[in-house]
Amino acid sequence: MAQKLIIDTDPGVDDAFALALAALGSDVELLGVTSVYGNVPLSATTINARRLLALCKRPDVPVAAGAARPLVHRHPNEAGYVHGADGLSGRSTTLPEPARPLDERDAVALMADLLAAADEPVTIAPIGPLTNIAALLAAHPAAAEKIERVVIMGGALGHGNSTAAAEFNVWSDPEAAHRVLTGGEAPCVLVPMDLTYRCAVDAAWLDELASSGPIGAALHALTPDYREHYRGALGWDGMVIHDAVAVAEAILPGTLHTERVPVQVECSFGPGRGATHADRRLPALRASGADPVPAAEVEVAVDTDLDALRGLLLDRLR
Ligand code: BDR
Ligand code: CA
Repeated sequence: MAQKLIIDTDPGVDDAFALALAALGSDVELLGVTSVYGNVPLSATTINARRLLALCKRPDVPVAAGAARPLVHRHPNEAGYVHGADGLSGRSTTLPEPARPLDERDAVALMADLLAAADEPVTIAPIGPLTNIAALLAAHPAAAEKIERVVIMGGALGHGNSTAAAEFNVWSDPEAAHRVLTGGEAPCVLVPMDLTYRCAVDAAWLDELASSGPIGAALHALTPDYREHYRGALGWDGMVIHDAVAVAEAILPGTLHTERVPVQVECSFGPGRGATHADRRLPALRASGADPVPAAEVEVAVDTDLDALRGLLLDRLR
């Protein structure tokens, strides 16, 4: 049976790879795509999502625009320096124009309608700030019953990327991440940057993608600015396709190995803001700990067969 999926995204070069993975999968029923501010402003992430679906020849998939800012504290944290000013290495307009108008509903309304209409559980894959998902849970608590899993790219067990402590998606809206991850309203899988970095792809992988066909070539053409950023970050020629790692798990549950632990999100102001604290203490220590507020347990992705994952991504993006 095809995996029913909604993607919430802020494209973003790695989001583009993740969207294509979902849009091209014959074992995926991509019900809808919702956009959120993040790597670049909402207007850019929304048009990028629509153009990427046109590239993948998926005019059947509705796209709805969501939040333009975080839930509570407005703060600038865009990542144009990573993804290029338009979010796609300055190449957004090389993609086909959208084949379908923007949905008249907002992101939360579209997700609520898709969940209400679903006859089987639906997986949601948020691969940007968690603002839309927190708003969905707050406005439509009954919708959570239809959610099979929320597979989130976000967080860091070790160091962050936006700050020493925080990963970009969580740092962008820590209050929203706190609601989604600690509230226990829907089962969550957190795919942190520690693992996505280990799944980085190299120049040979990217060359193979580029020569694989028109979609592979078009995706590869979106990478120059992003690849340049990661060349500096990694110290070798390659890039980290964070969001595609999470969407692989959303499509094929069990692709990533997980640990079930509570996760707290740091919402204070200071150097720790946006940190994700996964409680990996021995269960006995956890039970006798001094935590003032218990958090729900979530599945945190800690490992995978790295080469098998890279092969799976390449096969599906060809
Ligand atoms: C996350 O931040 C964004 O820049 C990427 O698209 C990914 O979702 C990685 O920290
Ligand atoms: Ca993203």
